[in-house]
Amino acid sequence: MLDISVAGGASSSGEREILPQNVKPLNYNLTLEPDFEKFTFDGTVDIVLDVFETSRDVTVNSLEITVHSAAVDIKGDISSAISTEFNEDQQTVKFSFDKDLPAGEQVTLKIKFTGILNDKMAGFYRSSYTAEDGSTKYLATTQMEPTDARRAFPSFDEPALKATFDITLIADQNLTCLSNMNEISTKSLENGKKAVSFARTPLVSTYLVAFIVGDLRYVEYNKFRIPVRVYATPGLENQGHFSVELAAKTIKFFEDTFDLPYPLPKMDMVAIPDFSAGAMENWGLITYRVVDLLFDEETSGAATKQRVAEVVQHELAHQWFGNLVTMDWWEGLWLNEGFATWMSWFSCNEFYPDWKVWESYVTDNLQSALRLDGLRSSHPIEVPVKRADEINQIFDAISYSKGSCVLRMISKFIGEDVFLEGIRVYLKRHKYGNTQTGDLWAALSEVSGKDISTLMNSWTKKVGYPIITVTENSDGKSITVRQNRFLSSGDVKPEEDETIYPVGLALRTKDGVDESIILNKRETVIPMPSGSTEFFKINADHSGIYRTAYTPERLTKLGKQATDGLLSVEDRAGLVADAGALASSGFLPTEGLFGLVSNWKNEQAFVVWDEIVARIGAVRSAFLFEEEEIKNGLKKFQRELTAPKANALGWAFDKNVGHIEQQFKALVFGSAGLSGDETIAAAAKELFAAFVAGEKKAIHPNLKASVFAISLQNGGEAEWDAIYSTYLNPINTDEKNTALRNVGRTKNPDLIQKTLDLILGGTVRPQDVYLPMAGLRTTREGTEALWEWTKAHFDEIEKLLPPGLSMLSSVVSLSTMGFTTEEKAKEIEEFFSKRNNKGYDKGLAQSLELIRSKAEWVKRDKASIKAWLSKNGYLA
Ligand code: BES
Ligand code: ZN
Repeated sequence: MLDISVAGGASSSGEREILPQNVKPLNYNLTLEPDFEKFTFDGTVDIVLDVFETSRDVTVNSLEITVHSAAVDIKGDISSAISTEFNEDQQTVKFSFDKDLPAGEQVTLKIKFTGILNDKMAGFYRSSYTAEDGSTKYLATTQMEPTDARRAFPSFDEPALKATFDITLIADQNLTCLSNMNEISTKSLENGKKAVSFARTPLVSTYLVAFIVGDLRYVEYNKFRIPVRVYATPGLENQGHFSVELAAKTIKFFEDTFDLPYPLPKMDMVAIPDFSAGAMENWGLITYRVVDLLFDEETSGAATKQRVAEVVQHELAHQWFGNLVTMDWWEGLWLNEGFATWMSWFSCNEFYPDWKVWESYVTDNLQSALRLDGLRSSHPIEVPVKRADEINQIFDAISYSKGSCVLRMISKFIGEDVFLEGIRVYLKRHKYGNTQTGDLWAALSEVSGKDISTLMNSWTKKVGYPIITVTENSDGKSITVRQNRFLSSGDVKPEEDETIYPVGLALRTKDGVDESIILNKRETVIPMPSGSTEFFKINADHSGIYRTAYTPERLTKLGKQATDGLLSVEDRAGLVADAGALASSGFLPTEGLFGLVSNWKNEQAFVVWDEIVARIGAVRSAFLFEEEEIKNGLKKFQRELTAPKANALGWAFDKNVGHIEQQFKALVFGSAGLSGDETIAAAAKELFAAFVAGEKKAIHPNLKASVFAISLQNGGEAEWDAIYSTYLNPINTDEKNTALRNVGRTKNPDLIQKTLDLILGGTVRPQDVYLPMAGLRTTREGTEALWEWTKAHFDEIEKLLPPGLSMLSSVVSLSTMGFTTEEKAKEIEEFFSKRNNKGYDKGLAQSLELIRSKAEWVKRDKASIKAWLSKNGYLA
């Protein structure tokens, strides 16, 4: 343990910026008192340390904390620090003493300090809300992951340095105090305040420590072994019933699945008005963005419900994956996030089988993973990271989506039961400890009898994934499959194409699916089991992480066979996705995609339509800056494809409409309406008019986003004002966000300006600045105006969203990635080259690559797309 990363060590931790290892923390005794007037907090922390090496100094992490005193207690003998040295760059403070801390002993480091109750959503921070009497109130809450515990208290802020915590909060009598553990005592203090102490935590990493002080109300589910509560600011708690019940049942489900009890005596989940991520899995005290926890069946739609379920189940999965068993360093982040993602699908499928979430997995996580990992600026799942501003940037589709796809691939390969057995072994073996990826492979290999690490190493250690080119041999009885690295730009160089991935071919034929064939070389010949190539498809159900390139003839044939019912829903959705990606990267002419989907008018599955709409959307956004003729042609194509479906399904949502059908109706309504179908546009207009006239329930929650967007697209100032006033006076936070997300969907320069003025105008919370940007990005005019605005306001944005938060990176991406020309890419590069790209360099590089690959796509396919549109009657 000790010598892993000391100088000269061969371990990969040589890369890491970590604390000296002369001591290790065992227990923290932490007391904090927030001050809601000065926006500071006073604290004391006593850290019991195991001394490994006799030395006279101790270095801990600390950021924006004023230390008043530091001392060390060596067997009852207390000595003050003789020097206190801050290192801002390393975010550390070093205390030196004039006595030896003797190796083999336990000593206690005692620090008194004051920190900032900041408004940056990091560390111990303040969040504000408007109380029922109209006054502004504050609550104090925490967000430590990945490296902001050091803003809340001096700490050994690394995931492997687990310790126990005794926490006490000091606050006004009327406020609720929460922490990871249950309350064990409340004492009244002389100054009229109270001191609330919590039970000692189990061994836990600093990034999972949490505490909250504020006026909070809760709903409780008490039919489970432990109390499960949802807390919110007063008046909102009643929207917690859905989550609280789902949470209790999910904890039970995970306990049974993992054969390991949830070890804490309670679970609290809290809706926080200002929150940088979606939610945070703090052990026993999960914090959420309001919209990701609270849900009201009456006023929110099916997609919102599914999102809330996903987030709740994701964070609960972390109570085992991450909290009980933790990656030893951030390079293993995927062990947290990949697992929580996979588990949220797995558990959602258990509770809501009719949602068929594994079907949507293919259009959701798989596509997110393939999209990002098709870029040169992607990174391996296991990527060396050392500094805080780098760590934040790997909370991305690689760690979450590709990570979970790797797990899905293994579970398909060894079977879900064996996979779950391996997970039980892994969790039990490493509980309260830290792991590396190899520990997972070891457990899975043991239970499956297969060498999982050989099979999986390239998937987690190498960037990218392959494209499998399928050709048919002249014997008519076999195919040749060949793998090469896939790049969205389609221009892979030999030195980028050296990895050979073990690829599960999952060959589907009329005889079923053969999961056993692994392509672990560049190229091979596969005989068809029935001796005929009449019907086959590889990557059955798209559980492999790759794209497949068939010849155009074969693709046409598969398209036909799909309509004959030979392919699964996942196959059909995946085929559309692959065709779309291959078109954008030049492996297939875009007309190949168009031809495929135009023959699928009778398709019945929501996810397939979802992918069709997404892929046409991608073509349209690549052509955003081209002339109206071709843009209108694409729009007409979308309209003629989706309008019949939209009109056939209708837009009524009575109680019998199932969960998927609700989303299906919403999808095609929006797609047809936004591409100009007159019937839908008229319906949207009518609904909007009724809504504006005061009939708050006139627009069904499932349709609200589309109705807002269509109304604004076809309208002007009056519509903008109406959506803006919905934003100011919403029925719930979900509706508020829907308004904000759509208010930028206009081509009118004045309304674009009004939207831009909103962003930093004081009403939009920093956590939400990306919402109006998302709307602006849908038009050429908005994309251009947003970029000009971002350039002009970048200093302010950077101040608002420090680089330690992933939000700055989102803002950079949103403001840039809508462009489609080399010229713009250069301009963007030029602008950022004069700045320190801390916290967003990865997002920026990815954006530039996307822009350039769109530019190439347009250059390559414009003429032929135009010809296809014309031939098929879509041009004017
Ligand atoms: N551990 C993360 C929260 C987090 C994200 C902390 C980024 C620090 C930086 C949490 O478990 C998470 O993944 N939240 C997701 C929601 C999830 C359903 C994908 C989020 O915040 O979006
Ligand atoms: Zn997570």
